[in-house]
Amino acid sequence: MSLMFDPESAIYPFPPKPARLSAAEKAGYRTRIKRLLREQDAVMVAHYYTDPEIQALAEETGGCVADSLEMARFGSQHPASTLLVAGVRFMGETAKILSPEKRILMPTLYAECSLDLGCPADAFSAFCDQHPDRTVVVYANTSAAVKARADWVVTSSIAVDLIEHLDSLGEKILWAPDRHLGRYVARQTGADILCWQGACIVHDEFKTQALQNMKALFPGAAVLVHPESPQAVVDLADAVGSTSQLIQAAKRLPHAQMIVATDRGIFYKMQQAVPDKELLEAPTAGEGATCRSCAHCPWMAMNGLAAIVNGLEQGGIEHEIQVAPGLRTAALRPLERMLTFAAGLKR
Ligand code: 13P
Ligand code: SF4
Repeated sequence: MSLMFDPESAIYPFPPKPARLSAAEKAGYRTRIKRLLREQDAVMVAHYYTDPEIQALAEETGGCVADSLEMARFGSQHPASTLLVAGVRFMGETAKILSPEKRILMPTLYAECSLDLGCPADAFSAFCDQHPDRTVVVYANTSAAVKARADWVVTSSIAVDLIEHLDSLGEKILWAPDRHLGRYVARQTGADILCWQGACIVHDEFKTQALQNMKALFPGAAVLVHPESPQAVVDLADAVGSTSQLIQAAKRLPHAQMIVATDRGIFYKMQQAVPDKELLEAPTAGEGATCRSCAHCPWMAMNGLAAIVNGLEQGGIEHEIQVAPGLRTAALRPLERMLTFAAGLKR
């Protein structure tokens, strides 16, 4: 692969942590956000990895808390003229591509994703040019420009189904950007997949040896793993799946304890779904661990209450998502194919 950019060795600067707020400040911000949402005909669309107080606010105000696929669906179908997307930038971009007539605000446009950062459009396009015989499937965690180069967009909740389908048509796949998810899908389907080598800095940190030790300490616990995690961690799982699939698995499995290997933001909705079960964080520490994220995405953490107020009050270049019309049209096609395919799966 002749690339100027090497996603495997790329290091991304982390954003500063949001300032801690007092209880009184939080209450003040919550009141302001509720008023601003009403005044601006806006609804919150939040990801499971945002902080629990943000998820609770989305629920209380009639918004949604969901995985990236459901966020896209909810935002495009909701009648509000403004969407306040609490997540990372690709989620806001996806909302804008699907609903160009809506105003898409984000608490901060600096909420990145290491998968998106690890797949710059020009290097990726060159990679695609080298493999013209392959169907290009990109994960939703990419920029609009990368989506515009793809035949399909996919999220982790339908990745195995889609690749199975394409494989049954005899298609060879070029997959980007997550190497762990790409390898997982290849193993599940047996499809011919050539993978871009990006990774999620959160899931990449789950540690196999430490997880084995934890399983020994909690022998009755089930292990739930997001497929953005390393193979050896996936191999220890009782259930592997997207965020929403892991919540379903927590309900389905009979175990009273669950060791959960994904961003700890998911504990808020998972605990609601299984109030009587004990949820334990899978270890990110262990021999050789650097643990910079410690199971919480630093960019998701930027979606604080103060930032949401700023987004709703200020809008403009600091907060409003814009996607150029030509780019939007090109990125819409693979996104719509994803939504049509997902609707056919009747989930
Ligand atoms: P889901 O598609 O499972 O929500 O995961 C997307 C993701 O990694 C968000 O950070
Ligand atoms: Fe990206 Fe990982 Fe953060 Fe999700 S958790 S937004 S995949 S860096």
